[in-house]
Amino acid sequence: MQSKLEEIRSQALSELERVGSLKELDAWRVSYLGRKGKLTQILRSLKDLPLEQRREVGSAANELKELLEERLAEREKELQEVELSVYVERSRLDVTLPGRPIELGRLHPTTQALRQICEVFSSMGFEIVEGPEVEWDYYNFEALNIPPEHPARDMWATLWIDPEKGMLLRTHTSPMQIRLMEKRRPPIRAIMPGRVYRYEATDATHESMFYQVEGLAVDKGISLAHLKGTLYEFARRLFGPGRKARFRCDYFPFVEPGVEMAIECLRCGGEGCRVCSGQGWVEILGAGMVHPKVLERVGYDPEVYTGFAFGLGVERIPMLKYGIDDIRLFYSNDLRFLEQF
Ligand code: PHE
Repeated sequence: MQSKLEEIRSQALSELERVGSLKELDAWRVSYLGRKGKLTQILRSLKDLPLEQRREVGSAANELKELLEERLAEREKELQEVELSVYVERSRLDVTLPGRPIELGRLHPTTQALRQICEVFSSMGFEIVEGPEVEWDYYNFEALNIPPEHPARDMWATLWIDPEKGMLLRTHTSPMQIRLMEKRRPPIRAIMPGRVYRYEATDATHESMFYQVEGLAVDKGISLAHLKGTLYEFARRLFGPGRKARFRCDYFPFVEPGVEMAIECLRCGGEGCRVCSGQGWVEILGAGMVHPKVLERVGYDPEVYTGFAFGLGVERIPMLKYGIDDIRLFYSNDLRFLEQF
């Protein structure tokens, strides 16, 4: 028996040396001190020994048990420390590593242009008014001096919502002129930004949805000189003083006389390119003096009041500024395009 104990002792201690983890340590504990462990079995068999031997072997076995438990506790502590330091090492934060960049969103080029336009006109004393995109034929056409069957309707290919009722998607922001004048008396100085829709095939210069900013000023004594002065100043503030702007005659049924304003194309320096469709100039707005028939319809006396109006194509501004040659880029959600602004 004694030699058996001696054997267990040397085997247990040498095995303990080789234990490399808490898991292995537990296996070691089970194999010697567990319920079916080698030492436990000996302690259990003591009762079958003659009394004398029992005392002797018993105390030796208990001594060994104490020794093994002591060593177990020591080793456990050692291994816990090792495993903790490995864990700490592995999960260490390197605070000197550069941080991950935070991606910031940006404003859509159209939004940027809209804000600039509104700011310029606000600073010139214009208020900002908004209105519906779903419109009646009356506001979009009839009150603007474009009766049914009028050939000028072909200028605005229309998306109808309910043709019987005359419900449509506005083809321009001009219906807002009527809505505002119906509600107010002069003096009026307002701009009216918003989306407009056209039933047209898209290409580099045409989209079925785009933005306009309508402008309207009505008072006693307003003349074409006010119109030109206002719009030259607008162009000067948006494009800088060196950029050329020009007016030409144009026709719109709701103004008389009617004009268009164009800005020199700087992408090609006037030679002609895709931005200006080979013209050297880019038309950015239609304008004119509010037609007397339009004033009459909203109950203004055209002998007393006159006014000017304009309708600005918003996307044309960033196209001119940055030399963008395809309007479809604005609403195709291509990040390679959008992230440039
Ligand atoms: N509404 C016209 C268009 O979309 C532009 C315009 C507005 C012209 C106001 C004259 C006066 O083409």
